[in-house]
Amino acid sequence: MQELMIRPTIYSFDNCRQFAEEFKLGEGDLLFTNKRLFKKFFEPLSLGCDVIFREDYGKGEPTDVMAEAIWKDVPKDAKRVVSVGGGSILDLSKLFALENISPVTDLYDGLLPIVKNKELVLVPTTCGTGSEVTNISILSLTTKGTKKGLAVEQLYGDSAVLVPELLEDLPFQFFATSSIDALVHSVESSLSPKGNETTRMFGYKAIEMILKGYMEIRDHGQEARIPLMKDFLMAANYAGIAFGNAGCAAVHALSYPLGAKYHVAHGESNYAMFTGVLKNYMEIKSDGEIARLNKFMAEILGCDVDVVYAEMEKLLNVMIPKKALHEYGVSEAELEEFTDSVLENQGRLMANNFVELDRERVYKIYRECF
Ligand SMILES: [Fe+2]
Repeated sequence: MQELMIRPTIYSFDNCRQFAEEFKLGEGDLLFTNKRLFKKFFEPLSLGCDVIFREDYGKGEPTDVMAEAIWKDVPKDAKRVVSVGGGSILDLSKLFALENISPVTDLYDGLLPIVKNKELVLVPTTCGTGSEVTNISILSLTTKGTKKGLAVEQLYGDSAVLVPELLEDLPFQFFATSSIDALVHSVESSLSPKGNETTRMFGYKAIEMILKGYMEIRDHGQEARIPLMKDFLMAANYAGIAFGNAGCAAVHALSYPLGAKYHVAHGESNYAMFTGVLKNYMEIKSDGEIARLNKFMAEILGCDVDVVYAEMEKLLNVMIPKKALHEYGVSEAELEEFTDSVLENQGRLMANNFVELDRERVYKIYRECF
């Protein structure tokens, strides 16, 4: 049985200049990023890479339509794809290291041969997705009204590069939603039946780093996050290693219809479902890994284990206030649709649930979060 796989080589640099020198960035490289990051960190280095800016192809979370449009402009003779950005930039760039991705919907339905023909360097600029160490690319499929993940060997980066300098002016809102996403990755992977003591070593460490960081921010204000950025970047990377091996589960699965239909940021839509899913796990099975996890989190939070979810919610509300689904505009009638969509499209994630959640239970969770 496989214990752990970390495919990309992980590097860390204090700044972009060191990264560019070590990696000899230049001709033959396609740099995929956004204008703000390019101007601030890469333009001054005069690297001579081809550059594509993500925002030239639309706003919001990445879609199949956006991927097709960018793909047309990807130089097919690029030797290396270097992507610098948040989860959506990294996820998209994984596709661009392939020989062919069009039609994208066929690619996601497993109907295209998947051949990687470029080197891939992934540089995260948020502290959430862990995309730099996973082989998953998530897109909103406009024709299906939900998000879907493609997870295949060929989507691994060759290098994952951590540069804390890139996070120095990450706005609080993005910091909050991305790090909550990382927290959810570490919790879901720790509860996953595919997890083991090695993956949980990364998951539990990430939980500890993130919750302790949040407590610092709660006690000393938003600016207290700045000296902790390297820790959060590392924690997100550990959480990525954990879920890259053990998988995410129902929190992600149930958050996807909300994210896709109401364009709620990924970390925020996860938070909307987070404790709802955990409470339902507990109703079905309250011993085993979940008991250990609850005790671990209660110790960090300094609370009684019986109130651990309420205490965690109190802490997370300092980062972003939790909203009920109806506050995003979801109607009660849509909960049936969301439920069907989860059962139809999210089998990959639902296979990793701590305990099995059937249709009735998924609907119940939606109702409770409504
Ligand atoms: Fe996530």
